[in-house]
Amino acid sequence: MAQAAQSSAPVPDIEHPDSKRPDSKHNVAGARQAYYDRISKFNMAPLWEKLRQLVGNEPKTQCAPAIWRFADVKAMVMESGDLISAKEAERRVLVLENPALRGQSRITQSLYAGLQLIMPGEVAPAHRHTASAIRFILDGAGAYTAVEGERTYMSPGDFVLTPNWAYHDHGNTSDQPMIWLDVLDLPTINFYESMFAEHLDEESQPVARADGDSLALFGSGVLPDGAPVSLNRSPVINYTYARTRPIVERLMKAGQVDKRHGARVRYANPMTGGWVMPTMGAQLALLPAGFAGEGYRATDGTIFVCVEGEGATTIAGQVFAWSAGDVFVAPPWLRYAHDAATESVLFSISDRPAQEALGIWREIN
Ligand SMILES: [Fe+2]
Repeated sequence: MAQAAQSSAPVPDIEHPDSKRPDSKHNVAGARQAYYDRISKFNMAPLWEKLRQLVGNEPKTQCAPAIWRFADVKAMVMESGDLISAKEAERRVLVLENPALRGQSRITQSLYAGLQLIMPGEVAPAHRHTASAIRFILDGAGAYTAVEGERTYMSPGDFVLTPNWAYHDHGNTSDQPMIWLDVLDLPTINFYESMFAEHLDEESQPVARADGDSLALFGSGVLPDGAPVSLNRSPVINYTYARTRPIVERLMKAGQVDKRHGARVRYANPMTGGWVMPTMGAQLALLPAGFAGEGYRATDGTIFVCVEGEGATTIAGQVFAWSAGDVFVAPPWLRYAHDAATESVLFSISDRPAQEALGIWREIN
């Protein structure tokens, strides 16, 4: 369109480089702008106008620190149970949107988080996708997630994996609703524009293994004969709270309490010792009563869940008081420090494995 307009009028354009241009010696800004306008028609732009923005001296997050208090949001999550069935919704989830990134279905630039509700008797049908997911159970007991033929019955504090391209479905065979936190690497996979998804013909996948098989076989310091020696994601589908909670307690009793993070373990892939997934890594920390953590920051924006206790986390000078069931987010490279009024447990998850694989992860006290 622009070229058509030019061809009908004798104005300066690419074919007449020296005619009627702003004088670059006396009108520098005008000359540059005219140049930018001309190269723009060829889908080009001057790097020097954007260089500082593109290559900052240190990370400048667009995310805001935020908290979703369970006491505030539980009733709203429950209300969704009256509005739509799990089957209709496929996944009945309220997305936790970062207040600075509203409408983008994300809690940080790389991760999605949501609160999922499954009512007694409901099934969330089987599907799989190239996004990886985790569930962290907040409320209720006795619903299951099935992953690759194994059904795991879930309790609060359990950390459940549904890796990239693994079929998964959920069902609630208990008599109470269940709410969990979903975290997925959706923004990361969509950034690469590499999302695929498929639905299984049946609502629930056939059960082929016993509940607890993957934890017993792969998470007990032994491995079945013939198990692979490398796998880029953990074969364990449920790291139960019943097993992990006593370990952080043991660490605390042994005095292994980090001044910033408390007595903390990393959920590990038993095949490699690495993170549980290539795109997301999680940790569980026990903070002693009266813990006054030192300030810390890292390049991975981190989602926290308070599992037990009461305390507060100060993020970039803002204080977020938390108690059991609360979810909060510390954006990349903002300093944060935890304080625990009572003995407290914090679960956390971030994109640190992806950043480490790319060689860009950094931390500082
Ligand atoms: Fe899914």
